[in-house]
Amino acid sequence: MPSPIFQIVYRSTFRAARVGSPLQALRDIVTVSSRNNARDGITGYLIFDGDTFLQILEGEQAAVETTYARIAADARHRDPTLLHSGTAAQRSFGNWAMNGYLRSEADAAIFARHGVPGTIPPELSGATVMALAQELAAGQRRSAP
Ligand SMILES: Cc1cc2nc3c(=O)[nH]c(=O)nc-3n(C[C@H](O)[C@H](O)[C@H](O)COP(=O)(O)O)c2cc1C
Repeated sequence: MPSPIFQIVYRSTFRAARVGSPLQALRDIVTVSSRNNARDGITGYLIFDGDTFLQILEGEQAAVETTYARIAADARHRDPTLLHSGTAAQRSFGNWAMNGYLRSEADAAIFARHGVPGTIPPELSGATVMALAQELAAGQRRSAP
C-alpha cells in the first residue's frame, strides 16, 4: 500500500530588502523549487502577494519535513508559521513540483470569495489557503496552452 501523502501549509513574510523585485524573487524560488521538489517527490503551490508567502508542500513525510526545514532557514523570508500539517488520501497539486502564483487584480474576486478581499489576515486558516490555491491552480490549468 502506498504511504499516505503528508501535507503542510505555512505562511511567512517576504524580506524585501534581501532581493530584487517580488516577481523576480518568486521566479528564482520557483526555478529552484521545481528542480528540488521533482527530485524529492514533492508537489505543491506557492501564493505570493508581494508581502506574504502562502505555500503548500505535499509528499512523503520525511521529504516534506526536510524541505520545510531548509525553506524555513531561507533569508528571503521571516516568521515561517505552520497553518496545517497532516496526512491526506491523495495529492491536491500533483501536476506541479511547485507553481508560483503572484497575486494580481485580475483574481480579486477569487481572493474575496475566500475571505481575503485585501491584505492577507493573520488568522487565515490552512483550509482556506488550500481552497484558495486549488481555485487559483484550476484557473492556471484552464489558461495553459
Ligand atoms: C517562500 C519560499 C518557498 C520555497 N519553496 C521551496 C520549495 O518548495 N522547494 C525547495 O527546494 N526550495 C524552496 N525554497 C528555496 C529554499 O529555501 C532553498 O533556497 C533551496 O531549496 C536551496 O536549494 P539548493 O540547495 O538546490 O540551492 C523556497 C524559498 C522560499 C523563500
